[in-house]
Amino acid sequence: MRLWFTLERDGFLRKSRKIDHINNALSTPDQAEAGFKDVQMLHQSLPEVNWNEIDTTYKFLGKQLAAPLMINAMTGGHPGLKEINRNLAWAAKETGTAIALGSQKAALDDESVVNTYTVVREENPDGIVIANLSAACTLGEANRAVEMVRADAIQLHVNAPQEMAMTEGDRDFRGIMENITSLVQRLDVPVLIKEVGFGMSMETVHKMHKTGARIIDVSGRGGTNFIAIEEGRLAKNDNKYIGDISGWGISTVASLVEVKELHLPLEIVASGGVRTSYDIAKSIALGASVAGISRPFLQTLIENGREELYNHIQQLIEGLKKIMLMSGSVDILHLQQVPLVIGGETASWLKTRGIDISKFARKS
Ligand SMILES: Cc1cc2nc3c(=O)[nH]c(=O)nc-3n(C[C@H](O)[C@H](O)[C@H](O)COP(=O)(O)O)c2cc1C
Repeated sequence: MRLWFTLERDGFLRKSRKIDHINNALSTPDQAEAGFKDVQMLHQSLPEVNWNEIDTTYKFLGKQLAAPLMINAMTGGHPGLKEINRNLAWAAKETGTAIALGSQKAALDDESVVNTYTVVREENPDGIVIANLSAACTLGEANRAVEMVRADAIQLHVNAPQEMAMTEGDRDFRGIMENITSLVQRLDVPVLIKEVGFGMSMETVHKMHKTGARIIDVSGRGGTNFIAIEEGRLAKNDNKYIGDISGWGISTVASLVEVKELHLPLEIVASGGVRTSYDIAKSIALGASVAGISRPFLQTLIENGREELYNHIQQLIEGLKKIMLMSGSVDILHLQQVPLVIGGETASWLKTRGIDISKFARKS
């Protein structure tokens, strides 16, 4: 795996922005703190649970997952990325997890790269496959993206900070709410509104709920840092500096608690710096339905191949099962009820925002 990727990476693919994103994503460290270190789950000394009966499965978008986990949106759109998508899709199928595609805009503009996305459905015919486009897309574009892969849902990404970090990025974000509202009404599949690593406040999610969207991926600060990635691209390609905005965003944990505070009928995906089984378990107990991971899965695939990606995902699920036992949770519904103690910087953010975090520590 490493060999073919290196050969292709060093050859004709280098100019592509998608390839730059992958190269820079792999070499740019995570942003400081998704907030998971500020959260502890309550240990249960009397679990009364049998390991063999622990059920990690979860129903999402009408299909059963082996665990509440997804390979989140990353790639497609360049011939050299087809194999990456094929292998991500294979790992999703083999582990029973969901997979989201990278933005399909490239395939809408250039027919020749459609197969870098359709390979995901070919490889994973029955699993959950989620399409991806900007929230500024048209209805026609969204329908084509969904049909292209017979998607179970579509992610509409919102990424103003990333656009700000790109010299060629969008600068006019007016009308997005109206556009999302119209897409939610007219599309035949569920819509997920998704950040790309900058998190969401309760005010933002309240507005999103008004569009009719019922699934939100908070994709918070603390993992892949798109401002730093774009900064790296600019410095390398154009010798330009975009300014010191790389700490921008709301952490994933703070975002999850902010959304939970709204008490709205929303399904939440936790992503952005989710790295361990414990992070997944904490996300679920904070109110998420599913956790999404991007960069670490890509890194494992590129550096060690698809079998290792399979092992990586299986180890996360195995670790989740251990945490379920130690917290006395026989299934995901019980895991959602496990009390959590929130401290540190995340607690002070949430208190300053007027949120009572003691209710997490004493769930009944
Ligand atoms: C190489 C790469 C490409 C990405 N491309 C997209 C994209 O096309 N659309 C999107 O919504 N998010 C995209 N993302 C963002 C991820 O889906 C996710 O929100 C973010 O990386 C935070 O998760 P992580 O910390 O686990 O990487 C990309 C992430 C990476 C690493």
